[in-house]
Amino acid sequence: MAIPKISQLQKIIERHFAAGPAAIGDEAALTAFLSLRTAIENGEVRAAEPDASAPTRWRVNAWVKQGILLGFRLGVLHEFAAGELNFVDKKTYPVRRFTANDGVRLVPGGSSVRAGAYVARGVVCMPPMYINAGAWVDEGTMVDSHALVGSCAQIGKHVHLSAAAQIGGVLEPVNASPVVIEDDVLVGGNCGVYEGAIVRKGAVLAAGTILTRGTPVYDLVRGEVLRATDDLPLMIPENAVVVPGSRAVTKGKGQEWGLSVYAPVIVKYRDDKTNLSTTLEELLR
Ligand SMILES: CC(C)(COP(=O)(O)OP(=O)(O)OC[C@H]1O[C@@H](n2cnc3c(N)ncnc32)[C@H](O)[C@@H]1OP(=O)(O)O)[C@@H](O)C(=O)NCCC(=O)NCCS
Repeated sequence: MAIPKISQLQKIIERHFAAGPAAIGDEAALTAFLSLRTAIENGEVRAAEPDASAPTRWRVNAWVKQGILLGFRLGVLHEFAAGELNFVDKKTYPVRRFTANDGVRLVPGGSSVRAGAYVARGVVCMPPMYINAGAWVDEGTMVDSHALVGSCAQIGKHVHLSAAAQIGGVLEPVNASPVVIEDDVLVGGNCGVYEGAIVRKGAVLAAGTILTRGTPVYDLVRGEVLRATDDLPLMIPENAVVVPGSRAVTKGKGQEWGLSVYAPVIVKYRDDKTNLSTTLEELLR
């Protein structure tokens, strides 16, 4: 079976995706998917990419997401063995293998990177952590213990995903934008970023901050409330420092009972003190 060129891959993937269940058992569909998987791992194509002309400054490549979904459709359950250990998963998504030449340090202890994820040189993966298919993790990023990089999530350069940070996956619908964490962001311990939220360059999420489509973010510095709209995801501005806060419920029983609900708050924009607080332990890298 001829291996398709990258320039032709989009049309081929779109065709096999549109074929629905008829693609199952079609060798050409599997070859196309495997070419896409390799192209993603090599950083040649990605589920979403920077695009200055797009309203969010990110363009979703729906066909790449279609290809990733195609991989699930085509994958039969398959046994994978590693020494005494054995696993059963979709044959199309085995564990990625690295050599010293890849320049990725993968410390043993329950971490895995699924095939179809791009992991750049200089990335450090502390156990246990998981990077799902379609994700992009750029140079110099630290993926700390218990961190999750969900499917198609786009993680920039020199990002610190702290312990137990959860970056949600967005596979469907195929045109939905994935979660994006831009360059030099610190995602503190136990944070959760979900449903296509975009965290701009240099922002800091203090430990325990949760962002979803439905979470309004209160910017004390600029006096604005940031929300997702029908067309745009929640976007955290460049260099914002977001901490987990709360706001009073001002109506009904909630007010009567003196309740408050969770509210992320931008308390400041990155300054020298923030830079000091977020300095990474270079020696550990
Ligand atoms: C956000 C963070 C980086 C601090 O940044 P900073 O620029 O040094 O912040 P400052 O100390 O100047 O604080 C600014 C304001 O935010 C408040 N604040 C800071 N961190 C906060 C937090 N985590 N929760 C709530 N409020 C916080 C401060 O009290 C201060 O408010 P005030 O002026 O009313 O007292 C730090 O709190 C943090 O969360 N670091 C990440 C820790 C982590 O997860 N490490 C992972 C290791 S694996």
